[in-house]
Amino acid sequence: MEALGEEGLPFRIRRARHEDIPAVMLVNLKSLPENYWQGFYKYLLDNWPEAFLVAEVGGVIVGYAMSRVEETMDPVLLGLPDNAPPPPAPGKVGHLVSIAVLREYRGRGIGSALLAETIRVMKEVYRAEAIYLEVRVSNEPAIRLYKKFGFVIRRRIPYYYRDGEDAYVMVKRLLPVDS
Ligand SMILES: CC(C)(COP(=O)(O)OP(=O)(O)OC[C@H]1O[C@@H](n2cnc3c(N)ncnc32)[C@H](O)[C@@H]1OP(=O)(O)O)[C@@H](O)C(=O)NCCC(=O)NCCS
Repeated sequence: MEALGEEGLPFRIRRARHEDIPAVMLVNLKSLPENYWQGFYKYLLDNWPEAFLVAEVGGVIVGYAMSRVEETMDPVLLGLPDNAPPPPAPGKVGHLVSIAVLREYRGRGIGSALLAETIRVMKEVYRAEAIYLEVRVSNEPAIRLYKKFGFVIRRRIPYYYRDGEDAYVMVKRLLPVDS
């Protein structure tokens, strides 16, 4: 997927390859306090390759989004209304594990493009009913991005992060509520 950023900066969103993992880890280390060991990136790429995306500018990786698919009976994670009866069987949901764009490339539509493609893949490739994520309650840019794409704050998890900050769980239903 090719796209032109607001300032005319061309970027490309594509599926990650194994050789991209070190560059993805570098973007993660520079962008977020939540870091993972190499094997975790490999695990996500091996299992949900279509949902592991990178953003490139001039052939250099400047952003990524990585997700997994889970099964759950939790009505909140399935994006069902608060008063909905419990689902009869587990449903498939996409979990956006991490998304980041290098600081100097932010605000140009790259995060939006990564999120839009993640949503499309979860819907069309993995047939997920909903997609969810955790975000720091103070992370306004990310919360705004997710709201722009129809995610709703459904839950607050106290002390979710290692430094004690709470997380919001934000969810976007991908199917009609009654299906
Ligand atoms: C969140 C993040 C991925 C957004 O990437 P980005 O490339 O800047 O995103 P976009 O340029 O597509 O902007 C998308 C939306 O995000 C919001 N946004 C972006 N920067 C913002 C800022 N500084 N303040 C408030 N909202 C902001 C806006 O709603 C924007 O849409 P708009 O331009 O139509 O208003 C990026 O800020 C980032 O990497 N942050 C650090 C890592 C992180 O926090 N990841 C999320 C963990 S849950």
